[in-house]
Amino acid sequence: MSDLIEDPISGSASQGAGKKTHPKKVRIEPESLRKFREIHSKAAAGGPPEKIEAQRKKGKLTARERIAYLTDEGSFQELGLLMESRCTDFGIKDKHIKGDGIITGFGTVNGRLAAIFSEDFTQLGGSLGRTHADKIAKLMDMAADARVPVIGILDSGGARIQEGVDSLDGYGEIFLRNTKYSGIVPQISIILGPCAGGAVYSPALTDFVFMVKGISHMFVTGPEVVKAATGEEVDFETLGGSMTHASKSGVCHFVANSEPDCFRQVKELMSFLPQNRFESAPQAETKDAVNRKIALLEKLCEIDARKAYRVNHIIWWLSDDHKFLEVHHDFAKNMVVGFIRLGGQVVGVIANNPAHMAGALDINASDKAARFIRFLNNFNIPILTLVDVPGYWPGVAQEHGGIIRHGAKLLYAYSEATVPKITLVLRKAYGGAYIAMSSKLMGGDINFSLPSAEIAVMGPRGAVEILFSRQIKEAKEEDREPLRAKLAKEYSDKFASPYQTASTGSIDEVIEPAQARARLIGAFRMLAGKRRPGDHAHTGNIPL
Ligand code: HXC
Repeated sequence: MSDLIEDPISGSASQGAGKKTHPKKVRIEPESLRKFREIHSKAAAGGPPEKIEAQRKKGKLTARERIAYLTDEGSFQELGLLMESRCTDFGIKDKHIKGDGIITGFGTVNGRLAAIFSEDFTQLGGSLGRTHADKIAKLMDMAADARVPVIGILDSGGARIQEGVDSLDGYGEIFLRNTKYSGIVPQISIILGPCAGGAVYSPALTDFVFMVKGISHMFVTGPEVVKAATGEEVDFETLGGSMTHASKSGVCHFVANSEPDCFRQVKELMSFLPQNRFESAPQAETKDAVNRKIALLEKLCEIDARKAYRVNHIIWWLSDDHKFLEVHHDFAKNMVVGFIRLGGQVVGVIANNPAHMAGALDINASDKAARFIRFLNNFNIPILTLVDVPGYWPGVAQEHGGIIRHGAKLLYAYSEATVPKITLVLRKAYGGAYIAMSSKLMGGDINFSLPSAEIAVMGPRGAVEILFSRQIKEAKEEDREPLRAKLAKEYSDKFASPYQTASTGSIDEVIEPAQARARLIGAFRMLAGKRRPGDHAHTGNIPL
């Protein structure tokens, strides 16, 4: 027997034929509904209570709690909750693990749609079997079609050993999609547990990787294998913890103190990004005056050119409401990159940082900036380059490590980028590094300079040693230093200024320091129509 129940759509149980609203009769078998609810709530509960307890003891949230933290309340729509593994070995199929250790679906993050997957460590250690992988692949295909970002939450023991090569093939289908959709929709990876073996390569192919102190670990081979293979003794944290990957390997872009802190950071990042390569980043309202004066830049003109300072201070002063989201904060600190808004428009900043290695270019700084530039170009985000660079960092390690090959990536990324590119030379811009940092002839749209800029083939001291070596050698010992100083001053006056460069048009304007913010906002507004979003050839964001 079945009962007649109220139609949830019309809100009526009436059967009155001929009435204007034509309410429907809805008959639901109570047994099927009961069964559905039982299956559904069991599936949604995740792994057994002791596994959930173990998860909590490690300071970790469950896969479902993580989605709740990330998405707007009630917005998440799950897909594939009832999918199971088809693997018949080791009794996996008989366990009927609904969802196969992963939650997939769509939800909004601060009102904007995103595709989200969250691995469930309480079910088979979040390991990746074929169904698990198929769910991720299907979600990514749908996200690319819908043109929305993909956010992956990873907490997994890696390839599901019981499923053999099927699980390896599962990674293959994910890597393929990471690459295929690179530069089409933003891809973000949040590592909240182990991420071992080949599993590390999916995050490495995505645009941004987040890790949490003490919780996240990434490595191709774990401490045991390292010890067996090389004899080195190393713990999980040192081998593949968040700070290792944030400061040494450069795999990780953002480090958080806790999972809630991590989700807050992800949301902040998302606020700067467009949904896909066919859109612009969202314009924000700001009360920050366009012509706000920046006294710090005036001060920069007064200080000794060899004095170090953190370029972050200048970025904070320039940006709307002093907000700067730094990317890769702990890696290659001689180069600072991140997102700001100028007059409400999202801009990506690339800046030499004199506080670290005098702001010189090296292998890691080149890789860091080049990949960020390629991300910005893929997603229609204009580029602001702040230059204070004495040159390339010298040394055998840099030469043998391939500064030529890595440095070339920076030249390639800037030359290839077709988004609006504005450069402001703050102080030093010497030699090859001057060219590399979005110089005019390498495609900078508008190149500004402060009066304090020194743009030349090399610094005055170095130039004097080469140009006047004979005179210096022939001078009396006690006269040499004053002679050097005099010649360096003459060289500086003639070459180490922005005026020669401005006279040839390689600097468009030498600007009043206090007006820098107004000039930059005006220039970005002027270039806003330089290309339409998505108008450029698709290049992808290859890991560099
Ligand atoms: C199947 C796995 C698994 C895996 C963990 N589990 N990893 N099941 N395949 N890869 C299961 C465990 O058997 C256990 O099941 C449950 O998940 C929880 O694991 P524990 O070991 O109890 O948890 P913990 O002590 O926290 O240790 C977590 C861990 C450890 C560090 C991740 O499980 C581990 O080292 N796993 C193997 C990691 C690894 O080497 N992965 C690489 C696989 S090869 P029960 O039933 O007890 O709950 C690979 C190649 C891919 O990924 C190449 C792609 C190109």
